[in-house]
Amino acid sequence: MKRFEIKLLIDKYALHTDDNKMCVKGWVRTKRGNKNVIFIAINDGSTIKNLQVVVDVAKFDEEFLKNITTGACLCVCGQLVESMGKGQCVEMLADSIEIYGMADAETYPLQKKGHSLEFLREIAHLRPRTNTFGAIFRLRHAMAFAIHKYFNDKGFFYWHSPLITASDAEGAGEMFRVTTLDLQNIPQRDGKVDFSEDFFGRETSLTVSGQLEGELGAMALGKIYTFGPTFRAENSNTPRHLSEFWMIEPEMAFYDLEDNMNLAEDFIKYLISYALENCMDDIRFLNDMYDNSLIERLRFVIDNQFIRLRYEEAVNILQSAKQKFEFPVGWGTDLQSEHERYLVEKHFKCPVILIDYPREIKAFYMKQNDDNRTVRAMDVLFPAIGEIIGGSQREDDMTKLVARMKEVGIDPADMDWYLDTRRFGSAPHSGFGLGFERLLLFVSGMSNIRDVIPFPRFPKNATF
Ligand code: 4AD
Ligand code: MG
Repeated sequence: MKRFEIKLLIDKYALHTDDNKMCVKGWVRTKRGNKNVIFIAINDGSTIKNLQVVVDVAKFDEEFLKNITTGACLCVCGQLVESMGKGQCVEMLADSIEIYGMADAETYPLQKKGHSLEFLREIAHLRPRTNTFGAIFRLRHAMAFAIHKYFNDKGFFYWHSPLITASDAEGAGEMFRVTTLDLQNIPQRDGKVDFSEDFFGRETSLTVSGQLEGELGAMALGKIYTFGPTFRAENSNTPRHLSEFWMIEPEMAFYDLEDNMNLAEDFIKYLISYALENCMDDIRFLNDMYDNSLIERLRFVIDNQFIRLRYEEAVNILQSAKQKFEFPVGWGTDLQSEHERYLVEKHFKCPVILIDYPREIKAFYMKQNDDNRTVRAMDVLFPAIGEIIGGSQREDDMTKLVARMKEVGIDPADMDWYLDTRRFGSAPHSGFGLGFERLLLFVSGMSNIRDVIPFPRFPKNATF
């Protein structure tokens, strides 16, 4: 008998077989009833909605029915009929049930409902089976798809930067080393590790950003984007940091900072609109369960222009704020999340794009302004999140770029391949990086970044 996915049955009621006899397969979410009739809610992951299966107890062996518990996996064949009950349009009258896999009621961790997100993090390998994580991971898929669609429709090319790299793109020194050296017996030369003996014959790490190689793509194909995992060994145990996170990095030849800001704003608004248009069942669930201003907040971002502001003006606003901050602010200090959130949530009540940051607190590749102390950086700040995007116009002047590298302690000879973009046919260009999980935090309304990636990596945690 033909198997149907539950999403199809519920959303497209017309599409059935002549006599409406069919099979569904999925996991038991709840089971209730009495000695005559049992109702089983079954979910196959295709949608947040469950299909109700109605079991006439007289037609089955009672001992067999006892084996159907929350978490068990079933194949049910029967007739799909309109439902009289509240909460569903159709239900299935079961003719036959096969149990693919039982789930022992004593030991199955998701037997009861209403577990805390903290508890579910301890069983990250099972949490996708809950309503909440089903919703989040369907949303995650939809956003990934929308990202590719957005760029493809705009004529960008998907570019694959390497994950193993010999350069520190952000210059922050927070990299995970990649090595095959025997850690018990590390080869030495002149009192230092001899990396010439290592797999690549030099020191290598996991990338913190695909940008530098992305720039090479943009200087040939015009407009590219990367979308892949990035790795940071910073010891940040916060609800907004992961050690392994996904980043989207568009890079465009001939774009200045203004074009870059316009793209970033349009891109984020497109993604949020896409979510509202295509994932409403899941978003409504998250709105109702966790954060009842979620939908309103998503609409607000689409409907309002982001505020654009120079770093200097932001510092002035923060300095005259009545609120006491944990970290003091002054020209030249890196803004902390508390400052970013004050600007967005309290002062402007709107997403903000901050530009023209002090040169000293930003990466070496950012284009220097004529004032000799700021760079053409842009950070997009969001409510509840803080920084969601970081980007800049790039320094296209070879001399200035080399001088800046030396200032921050990068040997230009080590990055000769990068400097070739400036040496041969240099051009104004810009780009930015959107943290995929930070976007998902915003779209799902979740408050901890560990809850929007299937297998979170953070300090002292790589279990599953
Ligand atoms: O601001 P970042 O460090 O910028 C770059 O890496 C540039 N190369 C981007 C570019 O211009 N192509 O990181 C970009 C974004 C941040 O705004 C934030 O959303 C996210 O990446 N991010 C993290 N997300 C989760 N966990 C972390 N540890 C993150 N660090 C940065
Ligand atoms: Mg940043």
